[in-house]
Amino acid sequence: MINWTAKLSPTVKNIPPSGIRRFFDLVSEMKGIVSLGVGEPDFVTPWHIREASIYSLEKGYTMYTSNWGLLELREEIARYLNNTYRVKYEPRTDILVTVGVSEAMDLALRAVLVPGDEVLIPEPCYVSYSPCTSLAGGIPVSVPTTMENGFRVKASEIEEKITPRTKALILSYPNNPTGATISGEELMEIAKVVKKHDLIVISDEIYDHLTYEGKHTCFAALPAMKNRTVLLNGFSKAYAMTGWRLGYACGHPEVISHMTKIHQYTMLCAPVMAQMAALEALQNGAEEMSRMVAEYDRRRRLVLKGFREIGLPCFEPKGAFYAFPSIEHTGLSSDEFAERLLMEAKVAVVPGNVFGANGEGHVRCSYAASVESITEAIERIGRFLKQLPTDIQETAANG
Ligand SMILES: Cc1ncc(COP(=O)(O)O)c(C=O)c1O
Repeated sequence: MINWTAKLSPTVKNIPPSGIRRFFDLVSEMKGIVSLGVGEPDFVTPWHIREASIYSLEKGYTMYTSNWGLLELREEIARYLNNTYRVKYEPRTDILVTVGVSEAMDLALRAVLVPGDEVLIPEPCYVSYSPCTSLAGGIPVSVPTTMENGFRVKASEIEEKITPRTKALILSYPNNPTGATISGEELMEIAKVVKKHDLIVISDEIYDHLTYEGKHTCFAALPAMKNRTVLLNGFSKAYAMTGWRLGYACGHPEVISHMTKIHQYTMLCAPVMAQMAALEALQNGAEEMSRMVAEYDRRRRLVLKGFREIGLPCFEPKGAFYAFPSIEHTGLSSDEFAERLLMEAKVAVVPGNVFGANGEGHVRCSYAASVESITEAIERIGRFLKQLPTDIQETAANG
């Protein structure tokens, strides 16, 4: 008999399974659930994008592409970034097409880290950053952000955590799970710290289009930041293309060629049919995308108003498609709250602690769900809050 426990990698053993998945295994077995749980658009990919991919299959595009991705797609990505943010990337050397931002993040971390390097991660944040850092041999260092500061990390908070081992900083605005955005001025302050301490920045801007107030600032477009930033973006969220698994990384040719080396031995290339779909999305997808973004904005207002009316304090999300209300006044932990809400009110949300320890006291609610689901969920949450013990209700009313 083989002893797997002794043979398996301790690094992997020490990484917890994704908290979101753990919770949703439970949800998938239940009936009558209203879900504000999953972080994915409820829209199907716009038809013209699906059709472009189908057409490419009909024409026989079924082979591997270049490891870097289709040149035509890289040219379109370069055009998009230059038109939108005035940041120039050379399609042949500075852009790598990946299997989602997920792969791009893994490649970026593996391409730069040596064992013991520290990576600063403002939290709460997307669940993969810390495990991917550990898998790449690095040490994740949490930089907690707070609701009082609008979940925007401050330059001074980053600087406090810097040690001689700090190599990189991960930025992720608009943010999952908080919905926070950050201003160009605040990013400029962060850029000063980054430059002073010679850090690399990995900037996950997958929600850039989902910015409802003000304009998104691309970190790489800030003065002197392009060459020390690995910019990550993808098609999952803005174009409702989660299942296509397509993203990209842009940066200095040296880091991109390093990332490509790992990519060529592990992925070889991103699927060609998804690349054809992405090309169509960039060339002709703006109108449908704006329609979806306007709809998310409408739902965002609905959620915010609804939560406030039922006494759930909620920071106003300005981007992505998540609200991150505080449930601290209920006296329940975020795990207890989410589990009881699921069992007693049949509403699925995600406990805030899966996005970092300081996500405790919150739950993440995705409003990439239909207006009917959102309305029903708010009603059920309201009823759930009312039937909590009176001492909790009183605290809620006073707080
Ligand atoms: C901030 C953030 N980055 C990356 C991802 C994963 O993106 P992809 O589907 O491109 O792998 C997600 C998905 O929820 C996300 O929220």
